[in-house]
Amino acid sequence: MNPQRRPLILDVDTGSDDALAILTALLSPEYFEVLGICTVHGNRPLPNTTENTLRVVQLLGSDVPVIQGCAKPIVAGIDKLRGMRARANEKQLNGQEKVAYHAEYLDLPPALRGPLPGTRAPLWYIDTLMKADRKVTLVMVGPLTNFALAYRIEPRILEHVEEIVIMGGGHDQHNATGASEFNIFMDPEAAAVVFECGEHVPLTVMPLDATHHANMRPRHEAIFRSWGSAVGDFVAEMIRDRLDAYNVMQPLHEPDIAPIHDALCLIYLIDQSVITLKKRVRGDVVCGGIADGATLFDTRYFTDAPKNCTVCLATDEDKFASLLIEIFSRAK
Ligand code: RIB
Ligand code: CA
Repeated sequence: MNPQRRPLILDVDTGSDDALAILTALLSPEYFEVLGICTVHGNRPLPNTTENTLRVVQLLGSDVPVIQGCAKPIVAGIDKLRGMRARANEKQLNGQEKVAYHAEYLDLPPALRGPLPGTRAPLWYIDTLMKADRKVTLVMVGPLTNFALAYRIEPRILEHVEEIVIMGGGHDQHNATGASEFNIFMDPEAAAVVFECGEHVPLTVMPLDATHHANMRPRHEAIFRSWGSAVGDFVAEMIRDRLDAYNVMQPLHEPDIAPIHDALCLIYLIDQSVITLKKRVRGDVVCGGIADGATLFDTRYFTDAPKNCTVCLATDEDKFASLLIEIFSRAK
């Protein structure tokens, strides 16, 4: 077996870019043995993110288990004032037309199977990791509620973790509020717990500073559309949805770009050279207050703060796009 092939658990809030991350993992069997995909609240409510995940898995005819997780953050939802400033997921244009980063339900056939019965993600993490005969890589691309709870229940699970890669946070880039990124903002306390895990296992953080340069563009949409296949059409639709949403709701450094935030975590595990700047730093999360959900990466050369993560700060966009196209072409 390919020594590079690593046992992998995904944690998602599917989600248009989560969907492309799932496709990337499942279409790269030489790199990943996907043990399970855990779902969490975030882009849409938990029932939606779970159904959407099942639909994406079904698109590839995969039988990988989907494990339903937490419907709410650990504590952030209790204080109603803390969520007041979060960005909207969609915007009503004139008439009936609207744009959204993430559809309520992905435009795929309804799932024929449900989530794994008799368990929930935090408990499944503990059961699966404690029994694992090889250390497992975790890629988490939504709010971090599920794993934070699993670790608080059974800290020994970290002995079975190879490394953790999360999409979240922002050093100079933010999207949920002026200080925070969406995944972290949705459950800052859970994120703080995962950053604590970084003191015990390798933690790589993929913030917006890196993912805002992990883009698909209209020319890429056209490539996928030209395939005339179910996967090609779905990928093209996800890109188009994101291009429209960003142009209307969140213009970035240039028009007509669609960040595929979550897929960058998988592409990085396949080819680390896609990240052109990364630093070993101390990372912390602000919980509550005006900067609720902010991630603080101490990049000072002279700091003596104990380092707990590698933060990725720049991306080779062409390499990202070409690797993504190559991987998706396997399902042409
Ligand atoms: O801020 C980007 C992140 O928020 C991505 O994971 C996207 O799917 C949303 O969850
Ligand atoms: Ca996500």
